[in-house]
Amino acid sequence: MDKNFYITTPIYYPSGKPHMGHAYSSIIADIFARFKRLEGYDVLFLTGTDEHGLKIQREAEKNKKNPKIFCDELSEKFKDLTKILNLSNDDFIRTTEQRHYKSVEEVWNRLVKSGDIYLDKYSGWYSISDEAYYGEDEIEENNGNKIAKISGSTVDWVEEESYFFKLSAWSERLLEYYKKNPNFISPSSRKNEVVNFVQKGLKDLSISRTSFSWGIPVPNNNKHVIYVWLDALTNYISALNFPDTNSKSYKKFWPADVHIIGKDILRFHAIYWPAFLLAAKLPIPKRVFGHGWILSDDKKMSKSLGNILDPIEIIKNYGTDQLRYYLVKEVSLGNDGNISMENLRNCINNDLANNYGNLCQRVFSFIKKNCYNKIPKPKRLTNLDNKLLNHLKNDKTKLINLMNDQNLNEFIKLVVSYSFDANKYFNDSEPWSVKKSDPDKMNAILFTACEQIKNISILLNSIIPLATEKVLSTMNVKKENISINQINNLECFDHEKELGELDILFTKIENDN
Ligand code: MSP
Repeated sequence: MDKNFYITTPIYYPSGKPHMGHAYSSIIADIFARFKRLEGYDVLFLTGTDEHGLKIQREAEKNKKNPKIFCDELSEKFKDLTKILNLSNDDFIRTTEQRHYKSVEEVWNRLVKSGDIYLDKYSGWYSISDEAYYGEDEIEENNGNKIAKISGSTVDWVEEESYFFKLSAWSERLLEYYKKNPNFISPSSRKNEVVNFVQKGLKDLSISRTSFSWGIPVPNNNKHVIYVWLDALTNYISALNFPDTNSKSYKKFWPADVHIIGKDILRFHAIYWPAFLLAAKLPIPKRVFGHGWILSDDKKMSKSLGNILDPIEIIKNYGTDQLRYYLVKEVSLGNDGNISMENLRNCINNDLANNYGNLCQRVFSFIKKNCYNKIPKPKRLTNLDNKLLNHLKNDKTKLINLMNDQNLNEFIKLVVSYSFDANKYFNDSEPWSVKKSDPDKMNAILFTACEQIKNISILLNSIIPLATEKVLSTMNVKKENISINQINNLECFDHEKELGELDILFTKIENDN
């Protein structure tokens, strides 16, 4: 069985500081990457920055900087964010790197060779903020300004010589691909919007610009630079050593298993990207998952509204795991979701501190006081003990499927319920009351509680890696045993070894903080 898994985030425009939307795409991708590693897959997880185009050139000019120097500085901030968010990315690609130039040029040459590129003149609307072309039917007037209906961003009229990609020729093939691969566009609620758009008939796409220079020059005509989306999308194969299609990484990881993106860039990933690949005679990724928007006070975050929540600030105040957990617990993946500081605090207190954190602390401190600080080896488990463990054990396949279907919310709901049940089990079984009268029973209870803490920690590991690794290392579970197949392996503990010290996992937050 193919045990390789390739997952990507969008590559981010380094036009300003990273914000919560960037953090969100990255955290989601990181969770799936980590989970696949727990399943024993060889994972390649890619992120990076999208550095060309007019938007970046303008931003650099505003800052009176050469665009490359401007990008060097800001790209560094996105690299820092990968550390702050505790991302497990294997690579970070910048579109200003040599390896990417080579790859984009080859894609261009392949499109020329297949007869999919021709030279003409573009006249139409363009949004610099979206780096997107819009048809007359996709724009509207707002306070005397022309804006794109879909994003609300200003559009300018552009007239210039341009190379075109024969996108119109690929409509049928794309529709056929969507039909044959019903999970290509996920969640399924997003599929219709793409299919409808393609069914209306696609227009050829302008894929070069002449009115600015910050981009990859068109091979053999450096009056033009390549359209930033053709440039950017290609990053996903540049990181695999393309054009060397015989390279180990390309062979192993292409086509990608899933591109994680925001819903605003679905059209580029679900229409343009597969069409470019079809024309270049390259395989198409298996899935594109479009998540929803993170809203702040019910509105999309934007500089002009001043409602941007800074992930770095939040992490400084509350912690990395806390932000990661909150974002994926609170926002239903695939839909838009509102976040607020009050809900963040409640979520930390209820789910992390009172539920999972409390379970670990009380079980470990009981073992310290009553069992020489070692996880007891039980003689036999009672029905009640088995009931607790079997519930999770029986759900194992379901849990794996939920993650593989990007159904993160259902997954978390189940895991939280196991933690809740384990707390209740510990209360109801009252190990303190049988310490003297039935030490075997006490041992079985403590072992069962530890076993369930281990299982829950493995399941939560991809979401809150720092806390769960602390807990597992307190229980002397080796790093290589943090894996899905250790769930319900009752032989995992070393009963001769003392538990480590566990400091407070999640500090409770006072609500007026
Ligand atoms: N550079 C392009 C992507 C090229 S991929 C080949 C781009 N960059 S971006 O920096 O503008 O946005 C990157 C991602 O952040 C997108 O997936 C976008 O959906 C996401 N988000 C930006 N703001 C967001 C929210 N408020 N909420 C959730 N995600 C949003 O687009």
